[in-house]
Amino acid sequence: MNNTQQFIQDNKQRFLDELIELLKIPSVSADPAYTQDVNDAAELIAKYLNEAGADNVEICETEGFPIVYGEKIVDPTKPTVLVYGHYDVQPADPLELWESGPYEPVIKKTEIHPDGAIFARGAADDKGQMFMHVKAFEALNKSNELPCNVKFMIEGEEEVGSPSLVNFVKNNKEKLKNDVILISDTSMVSNEQPSISVGLRGLSYVEVEVKGANRDMHSGVYGGAVPNPINVLATMIGKLIDEKGHITIPGFYEPILELTSDEREDLAKIPFSLEDYKKSIGIADVQGEENYSTIERASIRPTLDVNGIWGGYLGEGAKTVIPSHAYAKISMRLVPGQDPDVVTKQFTEYFPTLAPASVEVKVKPHHGGKPYILPTNHKGFLAAKKALAETFEKEALAERGGGSIPIVALFEEELGTKSVLMGFGLNSDVIHSPNEHYGLFNFYKGIETIPYFFKYFNEE
Ligand code: BES
Ligand code: MN
Ligand code: MN
Repeated sequence: MNNTQQFIQDNKQRFLDELIELLKIPSVSADPAYTQDVNDAAELIAKYLNEAGADNVEICETEGFPIVYGEKIVDPTKPTVLVYGHYDVQPADPLELWESGPYEPVIKKTEIHPDGAIFARGAADDKGQMFMHVKAFEALNKSNELPCNVKFMIEGEEEVGSPSLVNFVKNNKEKLKNDVILISDTSMVSNEQPSISVGLRGLSYVEVEVKGANRDMHSGVYGGAVPNPINVLATMIGKLIDEKGHITIPGFYEPILELTSDEREDLAKIPFSLEDYKKSIGIADVQGEENYSTIERASIRPTLDVNGIWGGYLGEGAKTVIPSHAYAKISMRLVPGQDPDVVTKQFTEYFPTLAPASVEVKVKPHHGGKPYILPTNHKGFLAAKKALAETFEKEALAERGGGSIPIVALFEEELGTKSVLMGFGLNSDVIHSPNEHYGLFNFYKGIETIPYFFKYFNEE
């Protein structure tokens, strides 16, 4: 791996310059105004894969945004690593909270990143992380040290639930055949403590509507005698979680595969300061489910959160009105054992039962995703652990990510292989928020570590 590592050192600045070009493209998959940009990002990835030396690079059209494919088959008898990542990003708003333009990447030093971090939408999620794989592959390939086969599958719809990738995977099983899937789209404990995500939460997402009268009403003339859908919705939401932090949906917890005490002990080994945690996000206290630690609440336990709530008068000043409608968007993060379709059904049946007879309730399901788990005796986990030990000179911990990458469970179902989540981000990268950034340390450490994954996976 010496030539590969030397190649990386010799090309550091170019790697960063190329990432900057990619970050300048506002490839927001959720907003049709950016359709051209999302396609442009796909083109640029294809160009970079070609330049890195990948064969059969293709921009695979779908009903939605394209999937960029490329491969290098060095020896069909050797194992194949399928690299997955995404080139789409979340919308940048609220724009006024960005210190520099979301698509004008700048490098700034921070307390956590004394070597500098690159600030831009998608820097950490997932352009910066996905691009590490393209560059690690380039370094391996140009140094003639690629030990096994590699395939790339980079999509442009992850942030909207990967609708087109589902059929692409189902229809291209032979093309995507692999021994392991490698993904960098999660975070690690800290720059001093590498970790591998051995689980992801699933997701059930619903939108609810509460309807009262057939029109908005004067809150003095009618107030007190008629249902106010916003008051009713607030009360209903309040009933979804009890005083112990338990979600009250019948049957919600039943299928959950509880952790063994050994597994919980392992999680407790993750260095964590509650004081720093509270301070970093400016809260006076944490809250959550009784008898679980903060790390557990944010990773191995399911959640129910309102993501948005609206209705009534939202303009300047005061308007005395009882609205006819109220709405909320509600997400439930799910853990292994739970099935998003079942949970959505449970919610849809239960939620209307919380309403008084005076209102009508509708529940509309959105995209969902299954949870995922990787056993720590899997070859891919062991290879990642050895690779991280090589570059960090420290043993990596297993942790469970609180976020979701819904397509990972589908990969396992359709392709029969496990995904290894070797992410290099930090929770402080503020992905999806204003001022998203990615440490240069993390970017380069990722590029240096990935080649060792290939080496050790090939040897396992
Ligand atoms: N990369 C994230 C998921 C993630 C981040 C997992 C950090 C673990 C740690 C991914 O791009 C994402 O944002 N996923 C969405 C789900 C999707 C259906 C919109 C999420 O988790 O909300
Ligand atoms: Mn992501
Ligand atoms: Mn994301």
